[in-house]
Amino acid sequence: MSNGKLEGRVAIITGAGGGLGAECARVFSSHGAKIVVADINAEAGQRVADEITEQGGTAIAVATDVSQEASVSAMVEQTVAAFGRIDILYNNAAILSEAQRAGDLDVVNMDVDAWDRAMAVNLRGAMLCSKHSIPHMIKQGKGSVINVTSGLGTMGDLTLSAYASSKAALIMLARSMAAQYGKQGVRSNALLIGLAPAENAHATMPQQLLDIIRDNHLTPELGTPRQIADAAAFLASDESSFVTGSVLSADGGFCSHTPSMAPMRELFAQMGSNKM
Ligand SMILES: NC(=O)c1ccc[n+]([C@@H]2O[C@H](COP(=O)([O-])OP(=O)(O)OC[C@H]3O[C@@H](n4cnc5c(N)ncnc54)[C@H](O)[C@@H]3O)[C@@H](O)[C@H]2O)c1
Repeated sequence: MSNGKLEGRVAIITGAGGGLGAECARVFSSHGAKIVVADINAEAGQRVADEITEQGGTAIAVATDVSQEASVSAMVEQTVAAFGRIDILYNNAAILSEAQRAGDLDVVNMDVDAWDRAMAVNLRGAMLCSKHSIPHMIKQGKGSVINVTSGLGTMGDLTLSAYASSKAALIMLARSMAAQYGKQGVRSNALLIGLAPAENAHATMPQQLLDIIRDNHLTPELGTPRQIADAAAFLASDESSFVTGSVLSADGGFCSHTPSMAPMRELFAQMGSNKM
């Protein structure tokens, strides 16, 4: 449902060529925002921008490698040339390819290139996009930056150490920027996402893994891209005008319970009671 809460706003969404970023682009557009689809995959980005335009929205695709400063500064310049301002920066791009996940393991088995790639894309990318966008927000006296993070950025796990470390740092980066530019009207928050696979993503995850993760969400089902985009739209809009420096969880309660909860649920079911 749209209430025009982003009417006239200009939103840069990184990694919006697919997955959660693409849904966010569609939802922000439905609320009236003009969208910049900034993705390293030029073709995918263009497809999303075209789809939005066909639906009556306004969007451009700008092929961007968020890990490279020259590419980011060119993308920001193109945004301002096209739309004259930047109101929202959604730092969503992350490197999650199969090859990346194969190298991003526990620390002893870490492929150092995978570590560096995770930091360059996930973390440096968000810093660079913020570095080049925030001056425009300050000029306007208003803006909202949102860093996409994950439960893995707040709790230890067995693998994906580089991804997790980059996601933890994104929370700190959001807080640093909130402190640094809040008085100039720029808000900055982190959005902590639970598992919300885009339609095609279920196929690449073994069912057993999905079941374990679902068991640890407090909601009946895993999340949907739309649920994530709705939380992002809240942080992007004036509905959250007093929210800054925060971590908003849209994670189905994944990070809110004791580590023993899921096996305890099973045990209590077997016992037919939750009396301890
Ligand atoms: N999907 C989930 O369930 C989930 C859960 C927790 C957190 N997240 C976070 O949400 C965000 C989106 O996840 P997703 O599942 O949609 O991922 P995805 O892999 O489907 O999309 C990531 C996008 O980023 C782009 N990208 C990769 N490297 C880039 C670069 N150097 N410059 C610009 N763009 C680049 C890719 O081309 C792709 O379109 C990520 O930050 C991820 O960590 C997702």
